[in-house]
Amino acid sequence: MQTGTYTATRSRLETYFDRTAVEAWKRLTSDAPVGSIRATVRAGRDAMRATLLSWLPAELGGRALLDAGCGTGALATEAAGRGATVVAIDLSPTLVALARDRAGNAAIDWRVGDMLDPALGAFDHVVAMDSLIHYRAGDVVRALTALAPRTRHSILFTFAPRTPALTLMHATGKLFPRGNRSPAIQPLAERGLHAAIAAEPALHGFGIGRTHRVAAGFYISQALELVRR
Ligand SMILES: C[S@@+](CC[C@H](N)C(=O)[O-])C[C@H]1O[C@@H](n2cnc3c(N)ncnc32)[C@H](O)[C@@H]1O
Repeated sequence: MQTGTYTATRSRLETYFDRTAVEAWKRLTSDAPVGSIRATVRAGRDAMRATLLSWLPAELGGRALLDAGCGTGALATEAAGRGATVVAIDLSPTLVALARDRAGNAAIDWRVGDMLDPALGAFDHVVAMDSLIHYRAGDVVRALTALAPRTRHSILFTFAPRTPALTLMHATGKLFPRGNRSPAIQPLAERGLHAAIAAEPALHGFGIGRTHRVAAGFYISQALELVRR
């Protein structure tokens, strides 16, 4: 079930990623030079993408994967390159068009819309890299609950861990340059999130697997693996 806070956040993110920040996001996800703060974000994101990809089977032939909130499509493209059958979805038509362009001949089913749309079907793996970081804890758990029955093996996602460094960056407003701020990131306490997942009956078929934090300058994000028991 989608709550008012979920749909309100989604609508802000659509505006932000399709209009306000689209040029900055294109640049961040390219090889073009960026300032020193964004360079740390780019390096951190590269490390996070590598971590998530390393949690998938090396050989992805015959596996169906959903890149949930694919942005400019880097993860989807790498997964397709390893043989996965990929559906990649994002709220932003502009980013999806760019992703399709960048991916060239990769056989990826690009979609514009909500990652929780049941019409997308079922997958072996769902990966949501930094696409749930703006949603409240309750909405993150509800999103996992919606994805769980459609996931045969694992759900990999990231959240912003509630750490003193992240709290300080938020307080000083340094995470994104002025005038180009993202909708607020919602830092989540790791223990509280684990407890909420364990307490959710719809997620009882899944156990918490690997977890890994990337803290690289101005990028702090934590990956969590939910594996079907
Ligand atoms: C921080 S970007 C990360 C993009 C990509 N996963 C990456 O790591 O490069 C978050 C993306 O999630 C997308 N997003 C957020 N909520 C979504 C939803 N409910 N359905 C589909 N996409 C969503 C946004 O439009 C945005 O492109």
